[in-house]
Amino acid sequence: MRGGAVGVDFGTTNSSIARCANGAVEVVRFPAVGGETESYRSLLYLEQVRQQGKSRTASWTGPEGIEHYLTREAAGRLIQSLKSFLASRTLETTEVFGRRVKIEELIARILGDLREKAERQLGEPVSRAVAGRPVRFVGAETEADNEYAEARLRKAYRLAGFDSVEFEMEPVAAAHFYESTLMRDELILIGDFGGGTSDFSLIRVGPEVRRRGRRAEDLAGNAGVGIAGDAFDAKIVRHLVSPHLGAGSAMRSMDKILPVPTWVYAKLERWHHLSFLKARETMHMLASVKAQALEPAKIAALIHLVNEDLGYHLYQAVQKTKCELSREEQARFRFVDGAMEVEAVARREEFESWIAEEVAAIEGCVDGLLEGAGVRAAEVNMVFLTGGSSFVPVVRRVFERRFGGEKIRTGSEFTSVAQGLALKAAEKG
Ligand SMILES: Nc1ncnc2c1ncn2[C@@H]1O[C@H](COP(=O)(O)OP(=O)(O)OP(=O)(O)O)[C@@H](O)[C@H]1O
Ligand SMILES: [Mg+2]
Repeated sequence: MRGGAVGVDFGTTNSSIARCANGAVEVVRFPAVGGETESYRSLLYLEQVRQQGKSRTASWTGPEGIEHYLTREAAGRLIQSLKSFLASRTLETTEVFGRRVKIEELIARILGDLREKAERQLGEPVSRAVAGRPVRFVGAETEADNEYAEARLRKAYRLAGFDSVEFEMEPVAAAHFYESTLMRDELILIGDFGGGTSDFSLIRVGPEVRRRGRRAEDLAGNAGVGIAGDAFDAKIVRHLVSPHLGAGSAMRSMDKILPVPTWVYAKLERWHHLSFLKARETMHMLASVKAQALEPAKIAALIHLVNEDLGYHLYQAVQKTKCELSREEQARFRFVDGAMEVEAVARREEFESWIAEEVAAIEGCVDGLLEGAGVRAAEVNMVFLTGGSSFVPVVRRVFERRFGGEKIRTGSEFTSVAQGLALKAAEKG
Protein backbone atom coordinates (compact mmCIF):
# COMPACT_ATOMS: atom_id res chain seq x y z
CA MET A 1 0.00 0.00 0.00
CA ARG A 2 1.23 3.48 -0.85
CA GLY A 3 0.59 5.93 1.98
CA GLY A 4 -0.21 9.60 1.48
CA ALA A 5 2.57 12.18 1.40
CA VAL A 6 3.89 13.41 4.72
CA GLY A 7 5.37 16.81 5.53
CA VAL A 8 9.07 16.56 6.41
CA ASP A 9 10.92 19.47 7.95
CA PHE A 10 14.59 18.49 7.95
CA GLY A 11 16.04 21.23 10.11
CA THR A 12 19.58 22.31 10.86
CA THR A 13 19.03 21.48 14.53
CA ASN A 14 15.69 19.65 14.76
CA SER A 15 13.53 17.74 12.32
CA SER A 16 9.86 16.88 12.42
CA ILE A 17 7.30 15.01 10.38
CA ALA A 18 3.54 15.46 10.19
CA ARG A 19 0.69 13.88 8.29
CA CYS A 20 -2.71 15.29 7.49
CA ALA A 21 -5.58 12.83 7.28
CA ASN A 22 -9.27 13.76 7.10
CA GLY A 23 -8.48 17.38 7.80
CA ALA A 24 -6.57 16.67 11.02
CA VAL A 25 -2.82 17.09 11.34
CA GLU A 26 -0.89 14.52 13.31
CA VAL A 27 2.69 15.26 14.32
CA VAL A 28 4.88 12.16 14.51
CA ARG A 29 6.20 11.44 17.99
CA PHE A 30 9.62 9.86 18.19
CA PRO A 31 10.79 7.68 21.06
CA ALA A 32 13.37 9.52 23.14
CA VAL A 33 15.24 8.98 26.35
CA GLY A 34 12.67 9.38 29.12
CA GLY A 35 9.65 9.88 26.85
CA GLU A 36 8.74 11.02 23.39
CA THR A 37 9.61 14.00 21.24
CA GLU A 38 8.09 15.77 18.26
CA SER A 39 11.39 17.38 17.33
CA TYR A 40 14.08 14.90 16.44
CA ARG A 41 17.65 16.15 16.78
CA SER A 42 19.22 16.33 13.30
CA LEU A 43 22.50 14.83 14.38
CA LEU A 44 24.54 11.84 13.39
CA TYR A 45 26.91 9.78 15.47
CA LEU A 46 29.35 7.49 13.67
CA GLU A 47 31.50 4.81 15.16
CA GLN A 48 33.71 2.12 13.75
CA VAL A 49 32.64 -1.30 14.97
CA ARG A 50 34.23 -4.72 14.42
CA GLN A 51 32.03 -7.59 13.46
CA GLN A 52 33.32 -11.05 12.59
CA GLY A 53 36.82 -9.71 12.18
CA LYS A 54 35.73 -6.94 9.79
CA SER A 55 35.30 -3.31 10.64
CA ARG A 56 32.37 -1.25 9.45
CA THR A 57 30.93 2.16 10.23
CA ALA A 58 27.82 2.09 12.41
CA SER A 59 25.61 5.15 12.71
CA TRP A 60 22.88 6.39 15.00
CA THR A 61 20.82 9.55 14.71
CA GLY A 62 18.63 11.75 16.92
CA PRO A 63 18.31 10.84 20.61
CA GLU A 64 19.93 7.44 19.96
CA GLY A 65 22.91 9.22 18.44
CA ILE A 66 23.31 11.31 21.59
CA GLU A 67 22.92 8.23 23.79
CA HIS A 68 25.60 6.27 21.91
CA TYR A 69 27.92 9.27 21.85
CA LEU A 70 27.60 9.80 25.61
CA THR A 71 28.24 6.15 26.45
CA ARG A 72 30.92 5.57 23.82
CA GLU A 73 33.95 3.46 24.57
CA ALA A 74 35.75 3.93 21.27
CA ALA A 75 36.46 7.18 19.46
CA GLY A 76 33.52 8.20 17.35
CA ARG A 77 32.32 11.23 15.53
CA LEU A 78 29.27 13.33 16.27
CA ILE A 79 28.22 15.63 13.44
CA GLN A 80 25.67 18.40 13.88
CA SER A 81 24.10 21.02 11.60
CA LEU A 82 24.74 18.94 8.44
CA LYS A 83 22.16 20.98 6.53
CA SER A 84 24.57 23.93 6.62
CA PHE A 85 26.94 22.10 4.24
CA LEU A 86 24.45 21.71 1.39
CA ALA A 87 25.36 24.89 -0.49
CA SER A 88 29.10 24.39 -0.05
CA ARG A 89 30.86 23.26 -3.21
CA THR A 90 34.18 22.92 -1.41
CA LEU A 91 32.85 20.37 1.05
CA GLU A 92 31.23 17.65 -0.99
CA THR A 93 32.66 14.75 0.93
CA THR A 94 34.27 14.11 4.27
CA GLU A 95 36.52 11.35 5.46
CA VAL A 96 34.83 8.96 7.85
CA PHE A 97 37.21 6.39 9.29
CA GLY A 98 39.37 6.41 6.20
CA ARG A 99 36.54 6.35 3.66
CA ARG A 100 35.25 9.36 1.75
CA VAL A 101 31.54 9.86 2.27
CA LYS A 102 29.24 12.37 0.57
CA ILE A 103 27.39 14.85 2.77
CA GLU A 104 24.15 13.64 1.10
CA GLU A 105 24.82 10.13 2.37
CA LEU A 106 25.25 11.41 5.90
CA ILE A 107 22.03 13.42 5.73
CA ALA A 108 20.27 10.38 4.25
CA ARG A 109 21.08 8.42 7.40
CA ILE A 110 19.09 10.94 9.44
CA LEU A 111 16.24 11.11 6.91
CA GLY A 112 16.16 7.31 6.65
CA ASP A 113 15.77 6.92 10.40
CA LEU A 114 13.09 9.61 10.45
CA ARG A 115 11.22 7.83 7.67
CA GLU A 116 11.33 4.46 9.37
CA LYS A 117 10.26 5.86 12.70
CA ALA A 118 7.39 7.71 11.04
CA GLU A 119 6.27 4.48 9.32
CA ARG A 120 6.25 2.73 12.64
CA GLN A 121 4.10 5.37 14.27
CA LEU A 122 1.78 6.06 11.37
CA GLY A 123 1.36 2.38 10.60
CA GLU A 124 1.73 2.83 6.85
CA PRO A 125 4.53 3.10 4.31
CA VAL A 126 6.10 6.54 4.11
CA SER A 127 7.70 7.12 0.74
CA ARG A 128 6.37 10.45 -0.48
CA ALA A 129 7.31 13.77 1.08
CA VAL A 130 6.47 17.41 0.79
CA ALA A 131 9.77 18.65 2.16
CA GLY A 132 10.81 22.03 3.50
CA ARG A 133 13.73 24.06 2.27
CA PRO A 134 15.05 27.42 3.42
CA VAL A 135 14.58 30.40 1.11
CA ARG A 136 18.33 30.76 1.13
CA PHE A 137 20.56 27.88 2.24
CA VAL A 138 23.43 28.66 4.63
CA GLY A 139 26.35 29.96 2.56
CA ALA A 140 24.35 30.30 -0.68
CA GLU A 141 25.27 33.46 -2.54
CA THR A 142 23.42 32.95 -5.79
CA GLU A 143 20.28 31.24 -6.99
CA ALA A 144 22.54 28.62 -8.58
CA ASP A 145 23.93 27.83 -5.11
CA ASN A 146 20.38 27.35 -3.82
CA GLU A 147 19.55 25.03 -6.70
CA TYR A 148 22.71 23.07 -6.07
CA ALA A 149 21.83 22.73 -2.37
CA GLU A 150 18.25 21.71 -3.14
CA ALA A 151 19.42 19.06 -5.62
CA ARG A 152 21.73 17.60 -2.97
CA LEU A 153 18.92 17.59 -0.40
CA ARG A 154 16.67 15.85 -2.94
CA LYS A 155 19.36 13.24 -3.44
CA ALA A 156 19.56 12.69 0.32
CA TYR A 157 15.78 12.11 0.44
CA ARG A 158 16.06 9.62 -2.44
CA LEU A 159 18.89 7.75 -0.72
CA ALA A 160 16.75 7.62 2.42
CA GLY A 161 13.99 5.77 0.58
CA PHE A 162 11.61 8.58 -0.38
CA ASP A 163 10.65 8.00 -3.98
CA SER A 164 8.82 11.26 -4.44
CA VAL A 165 9.93 14.59 -2.97
CA GLU A 166 8.42 17.98 -3.58
CA PHE A 167 9.95 21.06 -1.99
CA GLU A 168 8.20 24.01 -0.42
CA MET A 169 9.77 27.07 1.18
CA GLU A 170 9.81 26.61 4.95
CA PRO A 171 8.19 29.99 5.77
CA VAL A 172 5.43 29.38 3.20
CA ALA A 173 4.73 26.09 4.98
CA ALA A 174 4.60 27.90 8.33
CA ALA A 175 2.10 30.30 6.73
CA HIS A 176 -0.14 27.39 5.75
CA PHE A 177 -0.04 26.22 9.34
CA TYR A 178 -0.84 29.68 10.68
CA GLU A 179 -3.64 30.10 8.14
CA SER A 180 -5.66 27.40 9.86
CA THR A 181 -6.11 29.73 12.86
CA LEU A 182 -7.52 32.61 10.77
CA MET A 183 -11.18 33.61 10.56
CA ARG A 184 -10.61 36.03 7.68
CA ASP A 185 -8.02 36.69 4.99
CA GLU A 186 -4.89 38.53 6.02
CA LEU A 187 -1.60 39.67 4.55
CA ILE A 188 0.84 38.10 6.95
CA LEU A 189 4.57 38.14 7.45
CA ILE A 190 6.09 34.87 8.58
CA GLY A 191 9.46 34.85 10.29
CA ASP A 192 10.96 31.40 10.86
CA PHE A 193 14.17 31.51 12.88
CA GLY A 194 15.92 28.16 13.06
CA GLY A 195 19.41 26.90 13.77
CA GLY A 196 20.90 27.72 10.36
CA THR A 197 18.62 30.14 8.60
CA SER A 198 16.09 32.92 9.16
CA ASP A 199 13.36 32.77 6.52
CA PHE A 200 10.55 35.13 5.66
CA SER A 201 7.41 35.06 3.56
CA LEU A 202 4.96 37.84 2.90
CA ILE A 203 1.77 36.10 1.89
CA ARG A 204 -1.98 36.48 1.75
CA VAL A 205 -3.74 33.58 3.44
CA GLY A 206 -7.10 32.81 4.98
CA PRO A 207 -10.38 30.99 4.49
CA GLU A 208 -11.43 33.03 1.42
CA VAL A 209 -8.09 32.45 -0.31
CA ARG A 210 -8.45 28.73 0.30
CA ARG A 211 -12.03 28.71 -1.02
CA ARG A 212 -11.28 30.61 -4.23
CA GLY A 213 -8.01 28.72 -4.77
CA ARG A 214 -4.49 30.05 -4.26
CA ARG A 215 -3.00 32.38 -6.83
CA ALA A 216 0.65 33.11 -7.52
CA GLU A 217 0.14 36.77 -6.56
CA ASP A 218 -0.95 35.77 -3.04
CA LEU A 219 2.74 35.28 -2.33
CA ALA A 220 4.15 38.81 -2.26
CA GLY A 221 7.67 37.53 -1.68
CA ASN A 222 10.16 35.32 0.14
CA ALA A 223 13.50 36.25 1.63
CA GLY A 224 16.09 34.54 3.75
CA VAL A 225 19.48 34.83 5.31
CA GLY A 226 21.89 32.13 6.51
CA ILE A 227 22.02 33.53 10.01
CA ALA A 228 20.15 32.09 12.98
CA GLY A 229 20.71 30.16 16.23
CA ASP A 230 24.04 28.59 15.22
CA ALA A 231 25.41 32.05 14.42
CA PHE A 232 24.29 33.26 17.86
CA ASP A 233 26.02 30.26 19.45
CA ALA A 234 29.20 31.16 17.54
CA LYS A 235 29.31 34.50 19.32
CA ILE A 236 28.93 32.86 22.73
CA VAL A 237 31.85 30.55 21.88
CA ARG A 238 33.91 33.50 20.61
CA HIS A 239 33.38 35.65 23.68
CA LEU A 240 33.15 33.13 26.52
CA VAL A 241 35.07 30.05 25.43
CA SER A 242 37.75 30.65 22.80
CA PRO A 243 39.85 33.08 24.90
CA HIS A 244 40.29 30.21 27.41
CA LEU A 245 41.50 28.00 24.57
CA GLY A 246 44.18 30.36 23.36
CA ALA A 247 42.31 32.59 20.91
CA GLY A 248 44.09 35.93 20.72
CA SER A 249 47.17 34.60 22.50
CA ALA A 250 50.65 34.55 21.03
CA MET A 251 53.41 32.12 20.16
CA ARG A 252 57.12 32.43 19.54
CA SER A 253 58.25 31.42 16.09
CA MET A 254 62.01 31.77 15.51
CA ASP A 255 62.59 35.16 17.07
CA LYS A 256 59.18 36.60 16.21
CA ILE A 257 56.03 36.80 18.32
CA LEU A 258 53.03 35.74 16.24
CA PRO A 259 49.35 35.33 17.00
CA VAL A 260 48.14 31.71 17.16
CA PRO A 261 46.28 30.76 13.94
CA THR A 262 42.74 32.11 13.98
CA TRP A 263 41.10 29.67 11.56
CA VAL A 264 41.00 26.97 14.22
CA TYR A 265 38.79 29.18 16.38
CA ALA A 266 36.56 30.00 13.42
CA LYS A 267 35.93 26.25 13.06
CA LEU A 268 35.39 25.87 16.78
CA GLU A 269 32.56 28.40 16.53
CA ARG A 270 30.67 26.40 13.93
CA TRP A 271 28.90 23.23 15.01
CA HIS A 272 29.03 21.74 11.52
CA HIS A 273 32.81 22.22 11.34
CA LEU A 274 33.70 21.19 14.87
CA SER A 275 34.03 17.45 14.30
CA PHE A 276 36.19 18.14 11.23
CA LEU A 277 38.91 19.72 13.39
CA LYS A 278 40.05 16.28 14.44
CA ALA A 279 42.12 15.71 11.34
CA ARG A 280 45.70 14.47 11.47
CA GLU A 281 47.21 17.63 9.96
CA THR A 282 45.26 19.91 12.33
CA MET A 283 46.34 17.91 15.37
CA HIS A 284 49.97 18.10 14.22
CA MET A 285 49.66 21.83 13.71
CA LEU A 286 48.13 22.28 17.18
CA ALA A 287 50.91 20.25 18.79
CA SER A 288 53.52 22.50 17.21
CA VAL A 289 51.57 25.64 18.18
CA LYS A 290 51.48 24.35 21.77
CA ALA A 291 55.26 23.89 21.77
CA GLN A 292 55.73 27.54 20.76
CA ALA A 293 52.80 29.07 22.64
CA LEU A 294 53.33 31.68 25.31
CA GLU A 295 50.31 30.21 27.11
CA PRO A 296 50.62 26.49 26.29
CA ALA A 297 48.04 25.41 28.88
CA LYS A 298 45.32 27.09 26.81
CA ILE A 299 46.36 25.28 23.64
CA ALA A 300 46.53 22.04 25.64
CA ALA A 301 42.92 22.60 26.67
CA LEU A 302 41.96 23.13 23.02
CA ILE A 303 43.75 19.92 22.00
CA HIS A 304 41.97 18.07 24.80
CA LEU A 305 38.58 19.35 23.62
CA VAL A 306 39.19 18.28 20.02
CA ASN A 307 40.87 14.99 20.87
CA GLU A 308 38.21 13.88 23.32
CA ASP A 309 35.31 14.89 21.02
CA LEU A 310 33.89 17.25 23.59
CA GLY A 311 32.12 19.35 20.99
CA TYR A 312 28.72 18.15 22.07
CA HIS A 313 29.39 19.06 25.70
CA LEU A 314 30.41 22.50 24.59
CA TYR A 315 27.27 22.73 22.46
CA GLN A 316 25.10 21.76 25.43
CA ALA A 317 26.74 24.33 27.68
CA VAL A 318 26.17 27.05 25.08
CA GLN A 319 22.53 26.00 24.55
CA LYS A 320 21.84 26.15 28.24
CA THR A 321 23.21 29.67 28.55
CA LYS A 322 21.49 30.93 25.41
CA CYS A 323 18.08 29.53 26.37
CA GLU A 324 18.41 30.92 29.89
CA LEU A 325 19.21 34.34 28.42
CA SER A 326 15.87 34.21 26.58
CA ARG A 327 14.12 33.99 29.96
CA GLU A 328 16.45 35.81 32.34
CA GLU A 329 18.52 38.96 32.34
CA GLN A 330 21.64 36.96 33.02
CA ALA A 331 22.83 33.38 32.87
CA ARG A 332 25.71 31.27 34.09
CA PHE A 333 27.96 29.62 31.59
CA ARG A 334 29.79 26.54 32.79
CA PHE A 335 32.00 24.21 30.84
CA VAL A 336 34.27 22.03 32.88
CA ASP A 337 36.18 19.05 31.61
CA GLY A 338 39.58 17.80 32.62
CA ALA A 339 42.14 20.34 31.51
CA MET A 340 39.69 23.13 31.01
CA GLU A 341 37.36 25.01 33.23
CA VAL A 342 35.31 27.95 32.07
CA GLU A 343 32.81 29.58 34.34
CA ALA A 344 31.31 32.92 33.54
CA VAL A 345 28.20 34.99 33.89
CA ALA A 346 26.72 36.40 30.71
CA ARG A 347 24.27 39.28 30.78
CA ARG A 348 21.53 39.48 28.19
CA GLU A 349 22.59 42.98 27.25
CA GLU A 350 26.09 41.72 26.59
CA PHE A 351 24.81 38.80 24.49
CA GLU A 352 22.72 41.26 22.49
CA SER A 353 25.80 43.33 21.76
CA TRP A 354 27.66 40.20 20.59
CA ILE A 355 24.92 39.35 18.09
CA ALA A 356 24.11 42.92 17.00
CA GLU A 357 25.57 42.34 13.54
CA GLU A 358 23.51 39.18 13.01
CA VAL A 359 20.32 40.86 14.19
CA ALA A 360 21.02 43.81 11.87
CA ALA A 361 21.39 41.37 8.95
CA ILE A 362 18.05 39.78 9.85
CA GLU A 363 16.46 43.22 10.04
CA GLY A 364 17.94 44.16 6.67
CA CYS A 365 16.50 41.01 5.15
CA VAL A 366 12.97 41.86 6.35
CA ASP A 367 13.29 45.45 5.12
CA GLY A 368 14.44 44.19 1.72
CA LEU A 369 11.46 41.86 1.49
CA LEU A 370 8.94 44.61 2.28
CA GLU A 371 10.63 47.03 -0.07
CA GLY A 372 10.88 44.51 -2.90
CA ALA A 373 7.19 43.67 -2.54
CA GLY A 374 6.21 47.35 -2.29
CA VAL A 375 4.40 46.69 0.99
CA ARG A 376 4.45 49.12 3.94
CA ALA A 377 4.68 47.74 7.48
CA ALA A 378 1.23 49.20 8.23
CA GLU A 379 -0.29 47.07 5.45
CA VAL A 380 0.81 43.83 7.10
CA ASN A 381 -2.11 42.53 9.19
CA MET A 382 -0.24 40.04 11.32
CA VAL A 383 3.29 38.81 11.96
CA PHE A 384 3.82 35.16 12.89
CA LEU A 385 7.19 34.34 14.46
CA THR A 386 8.17 30.70 14.76
CA GLY A 387 11.26 28.43 15.00
CA GLY A 388 13.45 27.97 18.09
CA SER A 389 15.43 31.17 17.65
CA SER A 390 12.24 33.25 17.72
CA PHE A 391 12.50 32.89 21.51
CA VAL A 392 15.47 35.27 21.50
CA PRO A 393 14.05 38.56 22.89
CA VAL A 394 16.10 40.86 20.67
CA VAL A 395 14.81 39.02 17.57
CA ARG A 396 11.21 39.58 18.71
CA ARG A 397 11.91 43.23 19.42
CA VAL A 398 12.85 43.81 15.76
CA PHE A 399 9.28 42.95 14.80
CA GLU A 400 7.59 44.66 17.71
CA ARG A 401 9.35 47.86 16.73
CA ARG A 402 8.44 47.62 13.06
CA PHE A 403 4.90 46.30 13.27
CA GLY A 404 3.72 46.99 16.84
CA GLY A 405 3.48 44.38 19.59
CA GLU A 406 -0.25 43.84 19.01
CA LYS A 407 0.40 42.34 15.58
CA ILE A 408 2.86 39.72 16.78
CA ARG A 409 1.79 36.10 17.10
CA THR A 410 4.03 33.21 18.11
CA GLY A 411 3.73 29.48 18.62
CA SER A 412 4.38 25.85 17.61
CA GLU A 413 8.03 26.89 17.37
CA PHE A 414 9.33 23.42 16.53
CA THR A 415 6.52 21.91 14.47
CA SER A 416 4.76 24.71 12.54
CA VAL A 417 6.77 24.04 9.36
CA ALA A 418 6.15 20.27 9.36
CA GLN A 419 2.46 20.80 10.06
CA GLY A 420 2.20 23.33 7.23
CA LEU A 421 3.99 20.93 4.88
CA ALA A 422 1.51 18.21 5.83
CA LEU A 423 -1.41 20.57 5.05
CA LYS A 424 0.21 21.35 1.71
CA ALA A 425 0.56 17.62 0.97
CA ALA A 426 -3.14 17.12 1.76
CA GLU A 427 -4.19 20.04 -0.47
CA LYS A 428 -2.41 18.42 -3.38
CA GLY A 429 -4.04 15.08 -2.61
N1 LIG B 1 14.61 29.25 24.34
C1 LIG B 1 15.45 29.48 23.34
N2 LIG B 1 16.15 30.64 23.27
C2 LIG B 1 17.02 30.87 22.27
N3 LIG B 1 17.26 30.00 21.28
C3 LIG B 1 16.59 28.84 21.28
C4 LIG B 1 15.65 28.51 22.30
N4 LIG B 1 15.16 27.28 22.05
C5 LIG B 1 15.75 26.85 20.92
N5 LIG B 1 16.61 27.78 20.46
C6 LIG B 1 17.46 27.70 19.26
O1 LIG B 1 16.64 27.43 18.15
C7 LIG B 1 17.41 26.75 17.16
C8 LIG B 1 16.66 25.56 16.67
O2 LIG B 1 15.42 25.96 16.20
P1 LIG B 1 14.64 25.10 15.13
O3 LIG B 1 14.44 23.72 15.62
O4 LIG B 1 13.43 25.88 14.75
O5 LIG B 1 15.70 25.10 13.94
P2 LIG B 1 15.79 24.15 12.67
O6 LIG B 1 14.44 24.04 12.05
O7 LIG B 1 16.45 22.90 13.05
O8 LIG B 1 16.79 24.98 11.73
P3 LIG B 1 16.59 25.59 10.27
O9 LIG B 1 15.16 25.97 10.14
O10 LIG B 1 17.51 26.77 10.25
O11 LIG B 1 17.03 24.52 9.35
C9 LIG B 1 18.73 26.37 17.83
O12 LIG B 1 19.74 27.27 17.42
C10 LIG B 1 18.43 26.54 19.30
O13 LIG B 1 19.58 26.88 20.04
MG1 LIG C 1 13.40 25.16 10.70
